[in-house]
Amino acid sequence: MNDPNGLVYHQGEYHLFYQFYPNDTRWGPMHWGHAISRDLVHWEHQPVALTPDDKGYIFSGSIVADTHNTSGLGKDGAIPLVALFTYHDPNAAAKNTRNHESQGLAFSLDNGRSWQKYADNPVIPNPGDTQDFRDPKVFWHAPSQHWIMGLSVTDHVQFWRSKNLIDWQYQSSFGKGLGAHGGVWECPDLLPFTLPGSNQTHWALLLNLNPGGPQGGSGIQYFVGDFDGKTFTLDPEFANTLQHKEAVWLDHGADNYAGVTWSGVKDGRTLFIGWMSNWLYGQELPTHPWRSSMTMPRTLEMIRTAEGLRLKSQPVAELETLRQPLAFTERTEADRLTLQSNADIMQSEWLFEFRLADQAPALALTFSNESGEKLQLGMDDGQFYIDRSQAGRSDFSDTFAARHLAPLTLSDKSLSLRLFLDQSAVEVFVNDGQLSMTERVFPTRPYTAVHISGNATLIRKQGYKLTSIWPHK
Ligand code: FRU
Repeated sequence: MNDPNGLVYHQGEYHLFYQFYPNDTRWGPMHWGHAISRDLVHWEHQPVALTPDDKGYIFSGSIVADTHNTSGLGKDGAIPLVALFTYHDPNAAAKNTRNHESQGLAFSLDNGRSWQKYADNPVIPNPGDTQDFRDPKVFWHAPSQHWIMGLSVTDHVQFWRSKNLIDWQYQSSFGKGLGAHGGVWECPDLLPFTLPGSNQTHWALLLNLNPGGPQGGSGIQYFVGDFDGKTFTLDPEFANTLQHKEAVWLDHGADNYAGVTWSGVKDGRTLFIGWMSNWLYGQELPTHPWRSSMTMPRTLEMIRTAEGLRLKSQPVAELETLRQPLAFTERTEADRLTLQSNADIMQSEWLFEFRLADQAPALALTFSNESGEKLQLGMDDGQFYIDRSQAGRSDFSDTFAARHLAPLTLSDKSLSLRLFLDQSAVEVFVNDGQLSMTERVFPTRPYTAVHISGNATLIRKQGYKLTSIWPHK
């Protein structure tokens, strides 16, 4: 699988659809796979929701609940779930015509269990010569009483609007010459945020691109600005940032891509999930018989920092229900503290808080196993890093083994780390998620110890075993 698609919360259920090729662990004719959860933690697989047809493969897209039946697709009081997705016609693509992507519609009248394609697809045909015309993300914009669609088009985002989800009119374009452009723009998501303690709305536009991400290959940048129902304009301070920074990244790790948010969430949260991989080596990762997974679900919030308005991401609170006690012994040698567990710690969560040294603060955390493999992370030289070059297997790709850096801006001398380790991934949230890094890692044996060193004072440490969520029902 790859991208998350059609994220919608409806009648107590979180739906996760995703790019899926059922017949191989490599990318192929795309379907929409489907899973449902009531708590964002335990998921049940569902039958494939959408399959390719004579108009093409089913590429990425989104779903909204059409509560007021604006589409007229509802029947007998059932609320239609409406999916907008991209048709990718492989035959036209092979002929190198540029018009091989268009937007299709499908709907469900039984809460997402079965899907019918709209009879008159596509609802947005290709303009004729537009390469990379895909990944519609739709939301209801109450002030203008319209459905708004963000669509990625090679090197910019187009905004379209509609009264009924079927007839769409082009409104505006954003992004040429702004932010990172090392590759094709994909999977946009335009989101309103209210700052804590204020009633002002600011907008963020999540924008995935491949290649050109922060660690090479694919990655997620974002823009902060304003949206009036037709046009997205950059926040002046943010525009200023882009004068001296290529881009602002949502995640500085190598493995968080095509991330988008849930529609229909009623509790005020902005809930995000990403594909936990990178197109650089996503087809090669050494897992069997499956390949690829999602990040943990996260909340996104907008905050004001010394640098301007920024997004922070944190794991959803529901994940705390998985916590179990984790026993470890402590040993100090020279300047190094070792936390040693008698159980493997490949499904664990860690919370650390440090007071940093005034001069040249440095910090290193190392997860290690009995084969001498080590995953290292910490801060050095004013930057945060994850070094997976000796963390385990990397023979499947020339670009995998690396030390990845991220800029770290500290407002004082404290540093908090929240870290999730899973069988083949690490997700790190620094200072309440002001910085996040998501990375795949493939130790050949479980890590059993954490070593901590540096000129920082450790003021909190806590480890949890996370109960296995498999086998699931
Ligand atoms: C992003 C992407 C999307 C496209 C889908 C195809 O990873 O390339 O732009 O819709 O994957 O699987």
